[in-house]
Amino acid sequence: MKPVTSPIVTTLTTDLLVIGGGVIGLSCALHIMETSPALRVSILDAPTNPGIASRAAAGMLAPLAEFEEESDLFRLSMESFDYYPEFLARFCPHGPRVEPRGLLIPASDASQARSRRIAEFASRFAEIEELSGAALHEAEPALHGGRCTAALRIPGGIVNPRLMHDALSAEFLRRGGSFIRQRLRAVEFEEATLTAVLLDDETRVEPVQALLATGAWSHHLGELFGLHLDVTPIKGQIARFDVPDGWLRHVVHEHHIYLAPRSGQGIVVGATMEDVGFSPSVDGGVNRDLHRLAVELAPGLRRIPISESWIGFRPRMGNGEPLMGLAQGRANLLVALGHFRNGILLAPVTGRRLAQAWTGLGDCSSGSIKTC
Ligand code: GLY
Repeated sequence: MKPVTSPIVTTLTTDLLVIGGGVIGLSCALHIMETSPALRVSILDAPTNPGIASRAAAGMLAPLAEFEEESDLFRLSMESFDYYPEFLARFCPHGPRVEPRGLLIPASDASQARSRRIAEFASRFAEIEELSGAALHEAEPALHGGRCTAALRIPGGIVNPRLMHDALSAEFLRRGGSFIRQRLRAVEFEEATLTAVLLDDETRVEPVQALLATGAWSHHLGELFGLHLDVTPIKGQIARFDVPDGWLRHVVHEHHIYLAPRSGQGIVVGATMEDVGFSPSVDGGVNRDLHRLAVELAPGLRRIPISESWIGFRPRMGNGEPLMGLAQGRANLLVALGHFRNGILLAPVTGRRLAQAWTGLGDCSSGSIKTC
């Protein structure tokens, strides 16, 4: 009789398993490690393209343009914007840094109603300027001859998300964290307590606590954990033009169409908002549309070909608001997900909030931390 063989199962134990290695997961891990330096923390992410959604982002820090009314989420976004320089100095000691760029909100023709709403709203929180004619073209020569003949200038900034993701990952390793690059296959619970996470290569991870920072993939992965997370992936296609630094000085933000200059990386133009599931393709027709829209704003881009284009998936919750805190009915499972268009902006404050939740685990339902 042949001996019965069973697969070799490696068992890992860890104090905190963060599922999802994008900027949200990394920020949470780093903040929690700071409050509890002896903690063993692992981040589980896909074997290929870790942090794929974070790295696809444009990197705009634009709370005054993304929100047009006061809400908890707007306040959280402003808190994150203000905290950004300190966050980067703490967790990305070698850069990148926020590039403080004014945001130009086009205020001509079809954009007038939006710019008026933003002017009314943003002026309650920041200095705003109305620029038209010569003043606009002096401030932003690249718009000369384009359809934007008047604009509102409001404070904002940009951070390079690829450099930030690299830097946060390096800092996580430097502080003793470890990455596990595998796919998650199944989970085990004993009543309300998560006891094990089983991976594709037969590894069994037994965490004391776990955190789901699974972005656009949260619906499917949440089901494995018995959570119904109402998260839809919203695809965005983005393109990049190679132009010298200074070619465009501001971020031009017309909500779904924006031009964002990144130091050393030209201009990023984005982005579509497509509810088409996880369709991974880059569409040539969309690239042509992005190019045309970019040229309408900055006519000099007509002669410059798109040098790179890619897609990303935004995690949109049914109510448009992220979830952060202890998962309802689960003893040792936290969530930080659903940041939709503002994952890069909200990463610092999300980490800070989750670390606060961590220190009071079992009582996360106060302040802006919700049980969910
Ligand atoms: N934050 C810009 C976008 O999601 O396209």
